[in-house]
Amino acid sequence: MLSNEQIQHYKQQGFLVLDRLIDTDMLSKLKQQASTIVEKWVDDSQSPVFTTKDNDRSGDDYFLQSAEEIRCFFEEEAFDENGQLVQQRSLCINKIGHALHAIDPVFEAFSHQSIFGNIAAKLGIQQAQVRQSMYIFKQPHIGGEVNWHQDASFFFTQPQSVMTFWLAIEDATLNNGCLWVEPAGHLGPLRERFNLEGTTTKMESLHNMPWPSLDKGQPVEVKAGSLVVFHGSLPHYSAPNRSAYSRQAYTLHVTDGRCHYSSKNWLQANTLTLRGFDLSLTD
Ligand code: FE2
Repeated sequence: MLSNEQIQHYKQQGFLVLDRLIDTDMLSKLKQQASTIVEKWVDDSQSPVFTTKDNDRSGDDYFLQSAEEIRCFFEEEAFDENGQLVQQRSLCINKIGHALHAIDPVFEAFSHQSIFGNIAAKLGIQQAQVRQSMYIFKQPHIGGEVNWHQDASFFFTQPQSVMTFWLAIEDATLNNGCLWVEPAGHLGPLRERFNLEGTTTKMESLHNMPWPSLDKGQPVEVKAGSLVVFHGSLPHYSAPNRSAYSRQAYTLHVTDGRCHYSSKNWLQANTLTLRGFDLSLTD
């Protein structure tokens, strides 16, 4: 389903946009399911806020155990100085992570389809393993910034293999905090690596190359249903959302079973069975 031109674009630029790949009925189904999960979620954590500011998750059991569960995280700006939510609870959730693809029936059925498998195969992944899923809300007014980073920092394999599937559930615009990427930035070095040692996490510096400034970045404004596929070494970023509209997205992180997956990665398949994508006979 991918043209040679698209494959070349991915190789040279490190990302690819597939405009309106998923139909609106399916998007509505995913959106409804995410909303139901949030409704049913009982906040029993001491630290359910998600921020990329310091990346220190040491001793944060709620986060670490979410590797193989379905858990909700609040936006960093969800609470006022008195500890009260600043808007309706459902509009305060930053994301749901990190095993929707393995546990939730709706997301599981969606996440392993051959439509994704065919893309992964064309872009170089031969033995796909879906490692992580996130439903990201980027809420109106308080949607948090996500600092420049490379996803391979969190899914370290040798050789590097992680690929990100980023599906726009809603239109993503400059106004509501769309993705930014550094075109061809995947050709540069991996700057850091997120290691888990026991219950301690540490961001290890690997290379001192600075993160790109916004003038080196390219905003990726896309319509709902569009899929952005990007290379694990591609630096990307998203701005805070100060608009009145959310910018919901669903992401999958996929590694190649032919590559060695580091035991230091925070996310391990201890209790869940790793699964890739269904096969298609038509492509
Ligand atoms: Fe990322």
